[in-house]
Parts: sequence; C-alpha cells; structure tokens
Amino acid sequence: MKKLAAIVLAAGQGTRMRSKLAKVLHPVCGRPMALYAVDLAETLAKGRVAVVVGHQAEKMKDLLSDRKVDLVVQARQLGTGHAVAQAQSVFQSRGGNASSSLRFVILSGDTPLLTEATVQALLAAHEHDRATVSMLTAHLDRPAGYGRIVRGRDGSVWKIIEDKDASPSDRRLTEVNAGTYVVEGEFLFSALAALKPANAQKEYYLTDIVEAAIRQGKKVTASIASNPIEALGINTRAEMAEAERVLRGRIRKRLMDAGATFLAPETSFVDESVKVGRDSVVHPHVTLEGRTIIGEDCVIRSHSRLVESVLGDGVTVLDGCVIEGSRLEEGCRVGPFAHLRPGTIVRRNARVGNFVELKKTELGEGSKANHLSYLGDARIGKRVNVGAGTITCNYDGINKHQTVIDDDVFIGSDVSLVAPVKVGKGAVIGAGSVVTQDVAADALALGRARQVVKPGWVKGWREKAKKVSSHSKGKH
Ligand code: UD1
Ligand code: CA
Repeated sequence: MKKLAAIVLAAGQGTRMRSKLAKVLHPVCGRPMALYAVDLAETLAKGRVAVVVGHQAEKMKDLLSDRKVDLVVQARQLGTGHAVAQAQSVFQSRGGNASSSLRFVILSGDTPLLTEATVQALLAAHEHDRATVSMLTAHLDRPAGYGRIVRGRDGSVWKIIEDKDASPSDRRLTEVNAGTYVVEGEFLFSALAALKPANAQKEYYLTDIVEAAIRQGKKVTASIASNPIEALGINTRAEMAEAERVLRGRIRKRLMDAGATFLAPETSFVDESVKVGRDSVVHPHVTLEGRTIIGEDCVIRSHSRLVESVLGDGVTVLDGCVIEGSRLEEGCRVGPFAHLRPGTIVRRNARVGNFVELKKTELGEGSKANHLSYLGDARIGKRVNVGAGTITCNYDGINKHQTVIDDDVFIGSDVSLVAPVKVGKGAVIGAGSVVTQDVAADALALGRARQVVKPGWVKGWREKAKKVSSHSKGKH
C-alpha cells in the first residue's frame, strides 16, 4: 500500500458559531475540537501530517506546539479546496515530487465524532476499488447544510452539490458528504490547481474534485458510514452540544466497560483524559475534569466536581465537594461540602468534613478536620484533631506564611493559628485560643481571655432595667 499523509483543515472562522473564538478551538469534552482530527491524522500518518490554519493561527500554533505536525497558514480562507492546496508545499519540501507518490487522508477540524475504525474502512474500500478519490458519506434524516451526494442510476457517484448550490430536488437527497476523503496525491494537487470558485459562495470547493475525477475517467468511491453520527460536522453551537453529548456517552461507556459504575451515566460529565478504577461508584450529577485519576473502590457522591486530582483506592468523596489539583490517598474521606484547592494532600485515612477549605495543605495520615475550617499553607502531621472552626491565619495582608502542626496534636474548637507558627508533637491547644507563638511538644497552650463569673449580678441588673422600661412607657 502507498504511504499515507494527512491534511487537517482548521483555518476557518466558523461564522455560524457567532463567537470571538475560532470554531475549531472551541472545546468539546474539555479539548479544542481540532485536536480530535489532529490525533486521528497522527494515528494514521505519523510524521506526515499537515494542519491548515488561518483564523487565530497563533492560538492554533500554541495548541499544536508539542506535536510533530507541519502547520500551513491559509491567510485568506477561500474555501476547502484552496485550504488543501496550501498544504502541498509541506510534502514537496521533503524531496522532489513527494506529494504525487503519497496517498492523502483529508480530515475536517470540525468533525470530532469520526473514529479511526471508520477511516480505516474508507481506506480499505479505496484500496479495494483502486479508487483515485474516496469519501465518507452518511444518510441523515436532516441533511440540511451538508453537501449532497449525487449518484447516477447505477449507483455510482457523480458529484457533490453543496447545500447553498443545490436545487430543491437536490436538497431532498439524504446522503451527505462527511468531509473525510482519501485521495491519490498524483491527482489531488493537479485537480486543486484547476478549481474555479464558480458557485454560490465564490469559494474553491474541495468537493469539486469528485466531478473532475469522474470527467477524467478516474474511479471515485463513496463509503457509507455505518453510524451516521460520525459524520456530524460542527457548524453551530447546537451541533457542538450534540457532539459533546455523544462523546461524553462514549467516554462513560469506555469507563463502564473497564469496570466503573455510573449510577445515572447520562447525568455525569467526564472528560476524555479521566481514569476511573474498577468497582468505583460514581453517583448522579458528578463532574470529573482534566487528568483526574480515581483509584479502585472509590465512591463519588452527587454534585461533586473533581479537577486535575488524583484519588487512591477506597476514597470516599461525599456530596457537594469541589476538589482541584489535589491528592487524596487511600481510604480518606472528604465532604460533604468540602473545598480542596490546588496543592492539597490528604494522607491515608484522613478525614475532611463539612465546610472545610484546604489550600496548599497536607493533612497527615489519620488526621481529622471535620467541621468549618480554613487550613491554608499548612503541614499537619499524623493523628491530629483539628477542632471545629479552626483557622490558619496564613495571610498578613502582604505575604503568606506557613503553619506546621506535628503528630498527635489536639487543637480545640475555634482556634486561630497566626502564621508563621509551629505546634510541637502531642501538644494541646485550648478552645478559642489565638495562637501567636510556637507551642512546644506536649505543652498546653491557652490564648484567650480568662472567664469572669459574677454571682447574682443578673438579678440587680434586671430590676434596674424594668424600672427604666415602665418610666419610658408612662411618657407615651
Ligand atoms: C464542508 C463540505 C460539505 C460537507 C461538510 C461536512 C466543502 C465545500 N463542503 O462544508 O460538502 O458536507 O463540510 O461537514 O468542502 N476550512 C479551511 N479553510 C477554508 C474553509 C474551510 O480550513 O477556506 C476548514 C474549516 O475550518 C473546517 C473545514 O474546513 O474545519 C470545513 O469547512 P466548513 O466551512 O465547515 O465547511 P462546510 O460548509 O461544513
Ligand atoms: Ca463544517
């Protein structure tokens, strides 16, 4: 078989999105949609991939900076045919007439549901039929907006008619062009050079190479996608939402096939890069984002959102937690209503309870911060009890400071730890203390006003108060 090269079209603005951001940069399942086509192109033709960029080319360059793909700038977006033509130089610069000895897969940056298996089937049909041009098609109930496949009585493909150029009878055709092609290099670039923008949009249509091939007596094949949803091209926000829905479904299916339970899969939002271990249970309405990794036997209860976080085995996240950039070790339990911000480490079997916020803080093995706390820039040892309402005062208005609490410390309720401050191993801090000095190991620290009790005081006060009250009533 001939060597494969791939061209990804991603230069257009995508006017129908009505967005400031170029269409192909809009995220689908947390990733710019162009990346789906670029990934597929790299899988099929590693090392021989050209991406045509134009609108917001700089952002596209940043996005693809760590990839071995050649970027080609299409300064003015004069149509899909013009876009492909721009890529020729990439393949020619590799010595002589390289492009004519290659077979090109052409993918659209706005078709993220296309799978590798479908493109492989298209390549196989192309090879089998010894075709010059092959394209993927699909039968759609609502074909509006897509180019239509016009076939002769014998079923052979004649041409593709764009929606805007179609007559009312053409518009009734339900077989559409998916925008995915396999074309022999020796034909492709000469056919592109001969394109004329003689159509409703005054553009150079890639689709016109089909009719050109037929006229030159070359074989054209159309493969019908077995799952028409793969042909979904995103032109509008509604189509983007549909792609998101389908892709999220695929992600959850993959995770369920690998052994995770989703109690109400259609309500969970999971990004492509997320991993969920075997026998973990995800309750309804959970969001898992970025490179979040969940171990085995974990439970994630409803309305929790985990971003770029790593959970060991047997971790429980109760309802309504927000967990970002954090590491939760084996057996720990967090929530309900906890907020773990970046840089948090919750060690094995530790507990973080309701309305507790942690930031850049390590909570040691078996330690507990169960109620109403803010712990920021703190290192907390093992088996520490952090009482309800305890707060690290880590910020003096200019700088942030560290709080260090050693193993086996007991911190009573409503303690303020004014950082920088250290509490030694086994120390006890009395409730309501404001701790401004380091506390030695095994010491008791109390930093609060002494309680005053005045016996019988209330009686006298009450009588005086009543007199004042009756006097003032008499005035009215
Ligand atoms: C295109 C096809 C149509 C097909 C549909 C499938 C043509 C003329 N029409 O129409 O038959 O049914 O896709 O989704 O090809 N692009 C560039 N440079 C340009 C123009 C477009 O790079 O000058 C890129 C866009 O960024 C996009 C892709 O090519 O990623 C397709 O362009 P788009 O304008 O969406 O084409 P459609 O009108 O959808
Ligand atoms: Ca499109």
